[in-house]
Amino acid sequence: MSIEEQGGQKTAAAHQIAPATGKLGVMVVGLGAVATTMIAGVEAVRRRLAKPIGSLTQMGTIRLGKRTDNKSPLIKDFVPLADLNDVVFTGWDIFEDNVYESAAHAKVLDKETLDQLKPYLQTIKPLPAVFDQYYVKRLHGTHVKKGKNKRDLADQVIADIRAFKKTVDRVVMIWAASTEIFLEPTAVHESIEAFEAGLENDDIGIPPSQIYAYAALSEGVPFANGAPNLTVDTRALIELSKRNAAPICGKDFKTGQTFMKTVLAPAFKARMLGVSGWFSTNILGNRDGEVLDDPQSFKTKEESKLGSLDYIFQPELYPDLYKDIYHKIRINYYPPRGDDKEAWDNIDIFGWLGYPMQIKVNFLCRDSILAAPVALDLVLFLDLAKRTPSLRSIGIQEWLSFYLKSPQTAAGLYPEHDLFIQSMKLKNTLRHIMGAGLITHLGLEYYD
Ligand SMILES: NC(=O)c1ccc[n+]([C@@H]2O[C@H](COP(=O)([O-])OP(=O)(O)OC[C@H]3O[C@@H](n4cnc5c(N)ncnc54)[C@H](O)[C@@H]3O)[C@@H](O)[C@H]2O)c1
Repeated sequence: MSIEEQGGQKTAAAHQIAPATGKLGVMVVGLGAVATTMIAGVEAVRRRLAKPIGSLTQMGTIRLGKRTDNKSPLIKDFVPLADLNDVVFTGWDIFEDNVYESAAHAKVLDKETLDQLKPYLQTIKPLPAVFDQYYVKRLHGTHVKKGKNKRDLADQVIADIRAFKKTVDRVVMIWAASTEIFLEPTAVHESIEAFEAGLENDDIGIPPSQIYAYAALSEGVPFANGAPNLTVDTRALIELSKRNAAPICGKDFKTGQTFMKTVLAPAFKARMLGVSGWFSTNILGNRDGEVLDDPQSFKTKEESKLGSLDYIFQPELYPDLYKDIYHKIRINYYPPRGDDKEAWDNIDIFGWLGYPMQIKVNFLCRDSILAAPVALDLVLFLDLAKRTPSLRSIGIQEWLSFYLKSPQTAAGLYPEHDLFIQSMKLKNTLRHIMGAGLITHLGLEYYD
C-alpha cells in the first residue's frame, strides 16, 4: 500500500525522487560468506521460503505524524525502494566457485536450504577479481585480472560495470571482500588528479578496494564498503563521489560486538554511569577470521572497532566518568566455530560515589546471518539515494551510519555512533526526502 492510498498526499519532494522501476543490478566484490548469505537469502525471500528478518527495508515501519494519527507504514511502502524481485546479482571473486559452491563452503546456510536454491545460485559465477596479495596476506587468489598497471585494472572493472549496465536499469556496488592491511591516506589520495596519476604509476597506497571503488564512482555507481578498509575514506574518492553523483557511506558492517557496544555505551552515558574498562574478545573460524589472523589486517579491523567508545563517551566532556577507560579488543581465529562467532565483553562500570560494578555480555552470534540484511539494506538505500535529487550529489550519506562500525562524515564533524541517534537520523532522512514532518519526540502538543 502506498502512502497515497493511506490517505496521505504525495508531496512535491516525493515527486522528485525517480521511481524504482526496472532492474537493480547489484555488483558484489567478494562472493564469500556474507555475500552468498545475502544473495541466497534474497532468493529464499523471493520464493517465500523464509522471512527477511533483520532487514529494516523489508520489515521496518516508520511513524508519520502524531502518535494519535496511528500511521506507521512499512518503510518500503513509504519510500520508493527497489523490489526484491527486481534485484539482479553479479560479482567478483579471486576464486572461481559459483555462489552455490561458495555458500556451501561457507557453511552458513544449511544444506537443505541451499539445495532448494541451487539452480539459481549456480548461475552466479564470479568475474575475475582485482587482487594483490600484498594487501591481504592470508589469501592466494587464482581467478584474478592481469593488467599493465592499476589504471588498466580499473579500466577492466569499468568494462565489467558497463557490460552489466546493459542488462539492468541501475547499478550499485558493495564490497563484501576481505579486510585489507591497514593503510592511511597519502599524497596520492589528496585529489582525483593525484589518484589517477597513482593508478598509472602503480602507487602502493592504492589497494584493490580503491580500484573497484574508483571504477564504481567514475561510472556514477553508488559504493558501500562492508569492510574496515580505507577505500572511499579519502579526499579523492569523496570528491569523485560528489562529482559523479555516486553516493558513498561509511565502512565495516556493524553487526555483532560493535552493534551491542553502540547500544550499551549510550545507555551508560545517558545515566551518567562511569566506565573504567571494556575488554572485548572474540573467537571465529571462517575465512574472515583467518584473514584477520594476520596482524596487518587485524590492525585495520581493530581501528574500526575501537573508534565507537571514544566518540560515544566524549571523555573530554565527562573526564570524571570516561577519561581513563581501558579498552581492549581481541579477535582469535578458532576454526571449529566456523561462522558462528562467540563474543565476550567484560565491562567495568562504576556508579554513585564511585562504587564499581561489572557487566558481562556473551553473544553467540552468526556473523553472516547478522551481516546479510545489513548489506541488503545498504544496497537498497544507496540506490534510493542515487534516485533522490537532494542526496545524490552530496557524497557521504551520513544517515546510513546506522549500519556501519565506522561512520563517515563531512570534514570536521565527529561521527555519531549511538545506534538510536543513528536510527532517528535514518528515519528522519526518509521523512525529509518524502516531504513528511520530522519527528523530534518532543511531544508537548499532546498536553496542550
Ligand atoms: N560478517 C560480519 O558480521 C562482518 C561484519 C563486519 C565486517 N565484515 C567484513 O565483511 C567482509 C566479508 O566477510 P566474509 O565473512 O564474507 O568473508 P569471506 O572471507 O567469507 O569472504 C570474502 C570473499 O572476498 C574474496 N576476496 C578477497 N579479496 C578480494 C578481491 N580483491 N576481489 C574480489 N574478491 C576478493 C575472498 O576470496 C572471499 O571469497 C570482511 O572484510 C569482513 O571483515 C563482516
